[in-house]
Amino acid sequence: MENKNSYILAIESSCDDTAAAVLLNDKVLSNVVANQLIHNQYGGVVPELASRAHQQNIVPVIDAALKKAGITKEQLSAIAFTQGPGLMGSLLVGSSFAKSLAAALQIPLIAVNHMHAHILAHFIDEEGYDKPEFPFLALTISGGHTQIVRVDGFFDMTIIGETTDDAVGEAFDKSAKILGLPYPGGPLVDKLAQTGNPKAYVFTKPKVPGLDFSFSGLKTAILYFIQKNVKENSDFIELNKNDICASIQHTIIAILMDKLKMAVKETGIKQIAIGGGVSANSGIRNTLKEAEKKYGWKTFIPKFEYTTDNAAMIGIVGYQKFLTQQFESASVVSKARILF
Ligand code: KG4
Ligand code: ZN
Repeated sequence: MENKNSYILAIESSCDDTAAAVLLNDKVLSNVVANQLIHNQYGGVVPELASRAHQQNIVPVIDAALKKAGITKEQLSAIAFTQGPGLMGSLLVGSSFAKSLAAALQIPLIAVNHMHAHILAHFIDEEGYDKPEFPFLALTISGGHTQIVRVDGFFDMTIIGETTDDAVGEAFDKSAKILGLPYPGGPLVDKLAQTGNPKAYVFTKPKVPGLDFSFSGLKTAILYFIQKNVKENSDFIELNKNDICASIQHTIIAILMDKLKMAVKETGIKQIAIGGGVSANSGIRNTLKEAEKKYGWKTFIPKFEYTTDNAAMIGIVGYQKFLTQQFESASVVSKARILF
């Protein structure tokens, strides 16, 4: 089977992005995402609205992915979809569509763990992109997850640290909300932080044992800090927005780096690959690049379009599962929570 070319259609619908991609083996032919802007006005993802938007978007998004790849659905070798974790109503749209199409075309159906996909996105074949070698450490940072994973093989992964409460993306988004910034706040905090002083304000880092994380205390500390200062000066946020964002981002990065350094020390593994929406953060990217020189690490930072939720990453896991014939029957079910 290894020598045969395979076209995989991948579908991702775990949260608020409807995405489809076509891969030819480990190369991405198309990677289409329809973002759901409807949630911005609510300050977070509204599950009911997400499911409805997925239903509206899924057919045009898949059509666009096939067209962009320049193939017809009859050429597909298999269909991969996100089984979980995610919002149940959102997952059901993608899995039901994938099941029906695979049955109609009589081709294999492949279920993909969204978190595996954020990690294995590094194996998408891109010119000039070095792939990590096993074993490596993956730092998965998104709106739903914060994990340090030891990766010994494509399907041999162990979570060695994770958040005990909020995910790091939530820390960015909730801090942004306190500052009156629209959802999702992460990219805006990043942008404002670029011209701010990261040492302007000090927020205490949480004390969590081992490799685990906690971000809920930081959010509360920021809330109290803002409330206190706004009481003294109602223009406090407006006047100091950039410094506040830079200081928040600096603290979040310091929390992540402390645990990464500890993980490297414990495992002796110096290859670090990052994934998830928050790995788009310029401060994190720069800090990791500096860590290469400072600590002798080798870091892997994927292309921007493979960091936030996308279907190409589902496709690369689909391809690995296709090679090893890990297929599902039509009775496979979506899972809001999924064991690693
Ligand atoms: O992986 P993702 O697209 O969806 C989930 O699976 O959660 O991650 C979305 C998260 C949001 O919290 C968003 O604010 C954050 O990634 N994010 C960022 C940046 N770009 C996206 N956070 C900080 N800096 C960024 N540049
Ligand atoms: Zn994600």
